[in-house]
Amino acid sequence: MTAQTLAGARLLLIIGGGVAAYKSLDLIRRLRERGSAVNVAMSAAAQRFVTPLSAEALSGRPVRTDLFAPTEHSGMGHIEYSRDADLLVVAPATADLLARMAHGLADDLATTTLLATDKRTLVAPAMNVRMWLHPATQRNVASLRGDGVLFVGPDDGEMACGEFGPGRMAEPLAIVAAVERALQSPTLLPPPPGAGPLAGRRVVVTSGPTYEPIDPVRFLGNRSSGKQGHAIAAAARAAGAETILVSGPTALADPPGVKVVKIETARAMRDATIAALPADVFVAAAAVADWRVADASAEKIKKGSGGAPALELAENPDILAEVAARRGDRPTLVIGFAAETQALIDNARAKLERKGCDLIVANSVAAGEGTFGGADNQVTIVTADGIEEWPRMSKEEVARALVMLAARKLAGST
Ligand code: C5P
Repeated sequence: MTAQTLAGARLLLIIGGGVAAYKSLDLIRRLRERGSAVNVAMSAAAQRFVTPLSAEALSGRPVRTDLFAPTEHSGMGHIEYSRDADLLVVAPATADLLARMAHGLADDLATTTLLATDKRTLVAPAMNVRMWLHPATQRNVASLRGDGVLFVGPDDGEMACGEFGPGRMAEPLAIVAAVERALQSPTLLPPPPGAGPLAGRRVVVTSGPTYEPIDPVRFLGNRSSGKQGHAIAAAARAAGAETILVSGPTALADPPGVKVVKIETARAMRDATIAALPADVFVAAAAVADWRVADASAEKIKKGSGGAPALELAENPDILAEVAARRGDRPTLVIGFAAETQALIDNARAKLERKGCDLIVANSVAAGEGTFGGADNQVTIVTADGIEEWPRMSKEEVARALVMLAARKLAGST
């Protein structure tokens, strides 16, 4: 017998319109055989691919298809529908459905249900490879991730349209595993609106790289994407905190509801950070350049006969150490990052001491880990009390877990 890994779980499966909808029928079966109850809603387009009757037979429950159908449910049906669920699963999620979710549209049963919920949502995209790779879709995915939406897949491979590449819906068992993960991490669940564990708190986060000018067109920079820092700011805001994000140049959208101060150099980041104090929590997630060019040229440096110019470097302020050493307005919790390529924990412990902070998030950036610019992160939390290794998670999940940990520490329970 299949292990009852989802015993008692209440799931709401929203089937979007795509060829992969047939796999969602198998998904219903797989979820039920692990002990969960599965309510199903189907979009109009989904019904062109599979019938509500099949979904009804497999789920053992009436399937909803229409926002307004009086026979199906009255009044606030779609709201009760999502309120009764532990997790919403959208499979397959088409490019169109992702776009409508990202923009908060609510013009049918699927989108209205998705907008009317404060539950976690897990999305299994399925579409043509070029639709998946299109900047518009990637923008929508990034903003949904920023809202805390979880993703599984898409997979790489041959598609129903005969093309190859990413866009195939994740296999039902991979979706089941993602559902299990989402339900097994209660500390990662966002709080209901207005009742966040950081309500009434102020959080300042630095994120992204710094650019240190050599001349008006050239700079010294680094590979930080800002994804982790931005996700932390978004998670702090979602947890109810007034949040200020001091960000170096990134390609990311501003997290909703967060005050974003955009800077380029380490010195500007330092000034903006100090100006943002006081705060309850300071998270230094930025990859601040250790050095700047001592005297950057006001004019573009020309290629001359004298060979390559020598750059003289000067040390930048250490923002984390400075904030941790402040008197009067030192944040209660000062959190730093340690990106190391070797001796991760020893270096993180040394950094905790040297910088005077309360917690270090240590992550390996050794070649091949894909942390820089990647979607996932595997971190170890280092405090004076010890270390705690977290599993590999998306950067959004790391952000939420870190924010929940900060909330517990502020409340004095950890
Ligand atoms: O010393 P190292 O750069 O490895 O320390 C990393 C931590 O210190 C990160 O949290 C980073 O944001 C912070 N930092 C800083 N100002 C600097 C250098 C690093 O805030 N100039």
